[in-house]
Amino acid sequence: MNTESFIGIFDSGVGGLAVVNTLSYLLPNENFLYVADSKNFPYGTKTKSQIEAFSKRIVKFLLGRNVKAIVVACNTVSSIAIPELKRIAYPIPVFGMIQAGARIAVKKTKNKKVAVISTPLTARSHAYKKEIQKIDRDIKVFEIGSQRMVNLVEDGNSRKKYAYNLVREKLKGVLSSKVDTLVLGCTHFPFLYKVVKNVVGEGIEIVDPSDELAEELKEFLEEKHFMNHSSIPSKKVFFTTGDAKEFLLKAKLFLKEPPQRVFSLMI
Ligand code: DGL
Repeated sequence: MNTESFIGIFDSGVGGLAVVNTLSYLLPNENFLYVADSKNFPYGTKTKSQIEAFSKRIVKFLLGRNVKAIVVACNTVSSIAIPELKRIAYPIPVFGMIQAGARIAVKKTKNKKVAVISTPLTARSHAYKKEIQKIDRDIKVFEIGSQRMVNLVEDGNSRKKYAYNLVREKLKGVLSSKVDTLVLGCTHFPFLYKVVKNVVGEGIEIVDPSDELAEELKEFLEEKHFMNHSSIPSKKVFFTTGDAKEFLLKAKLFLKEPPQRVFSLMI
């Protein structure tokens, strides 16, 4: 492992590509190795032990590739498996979405009312509520889970009329609870940003945990002198446990710098 080693990053599908977009903007020199566990998508309706098993398998694969850091670009995995993944990966650092999302929500809210929209499993884990209230116990946290919103993005339908209707239906409660901050607590949801903004209007600030996570990762790399300063253009390599051709089409749709190829991964 050296400064030019890849940063491993994974999700159940396309959601983590939003994180790749954010990370590569802030860390343009870094090499990224992405795994989409498309075979096991969706994670949001699985059991905790299934999520643990899937994510452990991916982390072991990434460690086999000598990554220098691992980004869990999935809130569902982050809400359940971070302690175990950190244990397996040690001394390679593991970064999750929930702490980053909680920190940014606490920074942004003025009226101490925050909503988090996520998968049903993340919502049921109350990971966001716990993490936010660890920092400030006076903050009220409203947790909403929607698997249909996730599936909409994964299927490439985030711009259709019914996306708007579904988001409006799901966020009805958010509007009446008078929150001033809404956390996109699923990495698929930044791809629904425009629809969500349209529904919640100007009065509610929408926050994406990946912005905070990217800062955290950058600080870590700087502090440990792990930044890649090589003049060789950075590389991004994509793997999927599902259909590689299908994922390539999706990656072309969602990534700011579309890849040429997606590799199949059997784990
Ligand atoms: N994108 C993932 C998350 O942030 C999981 C979506 C799913 O597979 O249900 O939770």
